Amino acid sequence: MTNDDLARDLAARGIETSDQWIVERTGIRARHFAAPEVASSDLGLQAAKQALEAAGRSAGEVDLIIVATSTPDMVFPSSAAILQNKLGIAGCPAFDVQAVCSGFVYALTVADAMIRTGSAKCALVIGAEVFSRILDFNDRTTCVLFGDGAGAVVLEASAEPGILASDLHADGKHVGILCVPGHVSGGDVLGTPLLHMDGQAVFKLAVRVLEEAARACLQKAGKTDADIDWLIPHQANIRIMEGTARKLKVPLDKLVVTVNEHGNTSAASIPLALDEAVRSGKVKRGDTVMLEGVGGGFTWGAVLLTM
Ligand code: ACO
Repeated sequence: MTNDDLARDLAARGIETSDQWIVERTGIRARHFAAPEVASSDLGLQAAKQALEAAGRSAGEVDLIIVATSTPDMVFPSSAAILQNKLGIAGCPAFDVQAVCSGFVYALTVADAMIRTGSAKCALVIGAEVFSRILDFNDRTTCVLFGDGAGAVVLEASAEPGILASDLHADGKHVGILCVPGHVSGGDVLGTPLLHMDGQAVFKLAVRVLEEAARACLQKAGKTDADIDWLIPHQANIRIMEGTARKLKVPLDKLVVTVNEHGNTSAASIPLALDEAVRSGKVKRGDTVMLEGVGGGFTWGAVLLTM
């Protein structure tokens, strides 16, 4: 759905926006909205199948599934368990990680730790979201920013280092600046089950913590800014992404950008951007890649890896 498509739909509700406003403030030109019957596990399933194909692995070889999502199919069971069944396998551990837009770096870190301790050898790590379900289409300051999508990676035990370092954080005192303040109780939804955000407060915090997490990763791995071949941040907003790249002294042509095509897809945005960068031939085996996410909670984190 392009900005013009969205602007037309919003105009029918008496809400005014424009392609120019959205592009200037965010860099977003289009986003995808899943059909109502499509759940996060459906989008995640497609991504998982394509990741397995790219890795030359079959579903039967997977011994761990982690889905990063804030828009799960159900309250329970996890979207990971549902996706496992859709993949046609059973038995391996499968669970969701809920860290909103930091979800993918959280999930990757958990999978890496489980592989290092010998609990898993072949992990499917998926970011999948249907954020369109929690958008308030009467709030133009938020509904123009987000989209639906999924991306996945296969992470395997190996003697060669893949993930070099990771750095995760949360600070729950910022819950009010980015949240979906609703829950289910006694068969009713209590509170507001739609996204609420103080955009400027999020913006300021995001640029600062993204730099801190990336620097912590570099330090843990004994690397410097100059070692980053590609920066793949959470695709929230081009201004946050370019601001972080400048702070890390990463040239803008080494910043992977897909927010223009997808909008902010929360936990799906990093694997979507990584996939695009790999399939287009930008990111190659041996490259050093910095992934970083920031989102509701507040949560934030980074993962430095060699492809
Ligand atoms: N179309 C047209 N006008 C709009 C729209 C819109 N969609 N939304 C807001 N406006 C208007 C406002 O009403 C306001 O008008 P006013 O001056 O007459 O009151 C004007 O534009 C400026 O509004 P601001 O909120 O001050 O706009 P700002 O420059 O802060 O940009 C934005 C808003 C894009 C949300 C910005 O704050 C931002 O990028 N924040 C970061 C948000 C983000 O990326 N969040 C996700 C990260 S974390 C995660 O992914 C979960």
